[in-house]
This record gives sequence, structure tokens and C-alpha cells, in this order.
Amino acid sequence: MCGIVGYIGQREAEPILVEGLRRLEYRGYDSAGLATLSGAELHLRKQAGRIADLVRHLRDRPAAGCLGISHTRWATHGPATDRNAHPHVAGNGSIAIVHNGVIENYTNLKRQLQADGVVFATDTDTEVIAHLIDQHLQDDLVEAVRQVLPLLKGTYGLAVVSSRQPDVLVGARLGSPLVVGIGADEHLLASDPAALLGHTRNVVYLQDHQMCVLRADGWDLLDANHTRVAAAVQRIDWAPADADKGPYEHYMLKEIYEQPEALENAMRGRLADADASAHFGGLNLNARQLRRAERFVFTACGTSWHAALVGEYLFEELARIPVEVEYASEFRYRNAPMDRNTIVLAITQSGETADTLAALRESKRKGHHTLALCNVVGSTIAREADGGVYLHAGPEIGVASTKAFSNQVCVLAMLALYLGRMGHLSSIQGLRMLKEMRALPNAVRRALGCHDDVRRIAAKYQHVRNMLYLGRQYLFPVALEGALKLKEISYIHAEGYPAAEMKHGPIALVDENTPSVFLINAGGVVDKVLSNLEEIKARGGPVIAIAPEGDDELANQLHDRADDVLFVPQVPEYLQPLVSVAPLQLLAYHMALLRDCDVDKPRNLAKSVTVE
Ligand code: G6P
Repeated sequence: MCGIVGYIGQREAEPILVEGLRRLEYRGYDSAGLATLSGAELHLRKQAGRIADLVRHLRDRPAAGCLGISHTRWATHGPATDRNAHPHVAGNGSIAIVHNGVIENYTNLKRQLQADGVVFATDTDTEVIAHLIDQHLQDDLVEAVRQVLPLLKGTYGLAVVSSRQPDVLVGARLGSPLVVGIGADEHLLASDPAALLGHTRNVVYLQDHQMCVLRADGWDLLDANHTRVAAAVQRIDWAPADADKGPYEHYMLKEIYEQPEALENAMRGRLADADASAHFGGLNLNARQLRRAERFVFTACGTSWHAALVGEYLFEELARIPVEVEYASEFRYRNAPMDRNTIVLAITQSGETADTLAALRESKRKGHHTLALCNVVGSTIAREADGGVYLHAGPEIGVASTKAFSNQVCVLAMLALYLGRMGHLSSIQGLRMLKEMRALPNAVRRALGCHDDVRRIAAKYQHVRNMLYLGRQYLFPVALEGALKLKEISYIHAEGYPAAEMKHGPIALVDENTPSVFLINAGGVVDKVLSNLEEIKARGGPVIAIAPEGDDELANQLHDRADDVLFVPQVPEYLQPLVSVAPLQLLAYHMALLRDCDVDKPRNLAKSVTVE
């Protein structure tokens, strides 16, 4: 949510900042801006709209200088206007600041500043920080920022420059990520390492309560007492091409098609034939501790929460361990009784979602062992959890999550196998699962072959206002995910339901303009789902069925009853979510495209929600 890029070095800052912002635009995209310094002159350029609008503005009014900060915004305080775009300035334009996060006590701080005669130019919480720094600035910007930070309640990742000290860039973090990029005679600061790609692979992640001080020829990390702290320099292993669209029109489409390869990467080196099980390097729990685990709580938000629901079925069926799935935003404030042997697993693509992070911290505080499934290496949740598993899906840029979901489900299946093999699963069953999992990437590759049929179906239904997604068992969470994908990017109202539950309410919505997507299981409940399908047809509702191929009788029944049928490869029931979700992602994509929606940057959404 919101992106920050800062630069100090020998090169002109403007193009580097703009390029970095482009890489972060998926995180927030309602306005953008930058401030550079050439000597003691501060150049401020900001604009409501996309980065492209800022670039047009910069063409007329370039911003010179080898030091600068920039921001792409997802509005929290005040609408997306030129005025409210970051950077915000104070001290007659001598101080500029960009900020991610929310300052919860900004109203009080603003009132105090106004009492001191400060006049505010924006509706933002960030502007108070700029004025506070101005009030504290004598001759050392670093010291002024250090004095202001304890006055702020809430979260921040921020970057500050001042024309009074034009050779330094100051950053600070509490609850909102910041990373320093270390180059040769140049340094960068960003809220996300993606912004550094192409400049450096050497990075240092700031911890909460740390500040960084960047100069062209050096950098320091300071703790809250202003003491220099040692920091581990890490290497990013993503190549710049990973974060490009390649031949695809949208990131989302690219990421949908990357799923087979992403799944291969998630499984690489983790499937162990010798043990008929899976292996993980970073759980930091020995077999005894794991055997003692009596319960898991999975906590997550959005699409990751849907992956967690699939995980519940997987763990309970394959490992016979009870699981509860909790929305992180609810779980963090609920004081649910949990016994000692409950392991809390946070599931998150970004590793930065504010509610998931808070839920993890609360669980740690209560003494539970915490694990995390994260995609972004080095993210806050990945670092704070006691142990975890990386998803290895590669950068996910499209706001609507696709390949991260698949890798989450895949890693959960491997974890279920691992835990199952410590309990009741036999080696024969384990070996069979390994074989089935190895065949999965190809099955997903084939499932994606339905592209043209999906486009045709999307064209047929592009004008509807409501849709239902129905599935049972393993496919119930997939129904939720399909509905979420459609809502997110095409703005069509959609609901996901357990197929049988639709009789208890949603069936009232059914008419000839409300299509239902039926996810058909290969397993025991297929007849029940077919009866549910009949109930929709009897009320005139169009039906799109997604069913496993290879069962002639089922195919005949579906051809008679459904308006459209998409066949996906036959895989064991526990892996069906991964082949069934592919057509749903493509359906949402094509509906959005036909409705002229911005697929990669849907309105009001952000890739990583770092505010509560
Ligand atoms: C946002 C994104 C979703 C994502 C959710 C959780 O709402 O738009 O795509 O599923 O956050 O994000 P996480 O990074 O924790 O998986």
C-alpha cells in the first residue's frame, strides 16, 4: 500500500525514482510525486492520477538533482488530489517527506501545531510529520527526525530530505517496510525491493524502530537511541525480467500462466522419495515438537485466507490435525482460548499485511510457536515468524493474487503430507502423493488450455450484474476465490457459497441474468452437486460447469444440464483446487477486459494492505 523510492548518488535522481515508482505502482496508484534537491534548491512535483500523469508533468517541469524521494499513493487521509499527493513539505519548502502507514494521533498533533501557528496545506496525516521535523530541525536532519519519531503513534515507513542538509537522505521504519539498496557511490531507499531491481541486488532490511542515514558514499543504520547498529547485507535473487510483463498484456495474465512453473519451484527440492514425504528447511521445529502439535490456527486475509481454507481440508484429511482458519483482522483482537500445543500459521503473499502481522505478533506474545508461508523473501512476517516456508512463486505484481494462491495451496499440501507421514499416512500413500504432486504442474498447464472457451463464455456474460460460485468440500474455498477474483477486477457482484447452502438464501438471486459457476468434484459428492445444479436450472439460472475430464457419464449429464462446460484434467480430489481455480482466474480476467477495467490496478484496491 503506497510505494516509496529514494535515491542519493552521482546520477540524476528523477529517472531512477520514476522507474522505481513504476515498479511499485501496483501497490497504490491514485497519485504520485517526487522531490529532488539540486544544491539547496528543492524541486517538488506531484500529481493526482497514475505515474504516467506524473511523467507528463515532469516533461514540462523536470526535477534536477542527484538526491530525491518519491511516492505512489493509496489514499488513507484525504482524497486523491494533487494537494494530498506526497511528498509533503514544511519549513517554506525546505523539508520534504514521503510516508507509508497511518499516524493515528495526527489529529492531536495537528491541533498542537495549529496552536503554534502552523498552517496546513493538505488533509493528510503525513503533513504533521513534516511540520514536526521543521520544528525540531536545528542543523542536523537526522537528529530532528529522531526526536520526532517518538511523538508519532501508528505506523510509518518514511523518507525525508532537506535543502538545509542536501547531502543526506533519512529513512525510518515502524510497521511499514523499508529496504536500503547499496550501490557503488549511490544508495537507494524503497518500501519494496522490487524498486531496486536493475540498480543493485545488495540490500539491508530495516527493522522496526530503526532509522537509516544514506549518503552518496556511505550508509548507517541507527537504533532508537541513535546508536549505530550492524546490519546484515542480503542479496536479492530476483532478476529484473521477473518483474516485467514480457509478452503478456497484463501482469495478471502473465502470473496466471506462470503457475505451472511456480508450482515446480515451490516443490523443487522439497519432495523426498526416501521418506515418502516432504522436506522443509525453515520450520525450526523438530519432529517431536511437531508431533505434539494438537491444533493449527491458520490466519490470513483475502486470497490467502481462501488458501488457508483449502489448507484446513488438507491438514484435517491428510494429517488428521484439527485446523481453525481465522481472518487475521478478527483473530488479532479476539482472545480465543488456545492451548499451548497450538501452532499459529500466518499465510501471506507479501509478508507485510498489517492485520496478519499483528495476528502473528499477538500469537507470539502468547507463547505459541508461529510459522509463516510467505512469498516475499525477507518480508517482515517472514523475519518475525519462528519458522516458515517460502512460496517461491516469484514476484506477483497483479493486484489480484493468482500464482501466490496456487503456491500457498501447494505448500499446504506438502506440509499436510509431511505431518501426515509423522502420523497415520503409510509410505505407500506418501509415495503416491509425491507422484500425484509431481504431475500437478502439467495438469495446471493443461487446465490453462481452456483460455479460448473461457473468453467465449466471458463474452456471453460480460453484462451481468451478479454471479454465484458454488462448490463443495475442497472446491468450496475455490468458489470463494473465484467470486473474489471476479469482484476485484470486473466489479461484478459475485458470491461464493458451499453449493448446498445456496438454498438458504442466495437462490433468491437466481434468474436468467444471474449465472452460476458450478465447481464439480470428482469425489463422493458429485451427485449432490448435480442436484444443486438442477435446482438452479429449474429457476432459469444459466450454469457454467467446471468439471474433471475423463468421466463420460458425468460429461453427458453436464452437457444436458449446463449451458457451458469447461473440462479440467482429472487429479485427486485434494489437488482439484489447483486445476479448478485456473479457469476461474481466466474468467475474471476476460470479464474485466471486456468491461474495460484496469486488470492490474483495480479501483480502490492495493496489492499489500499495510494499514489496518
Ligand atoms: C490485498 C490484496 C489481495 C491479498 C490480500 C492479502 O487485499 O489485494 O490480493 O490476497 O491483500 O495479502 P497477503 O500479501 O497477506 O497475502
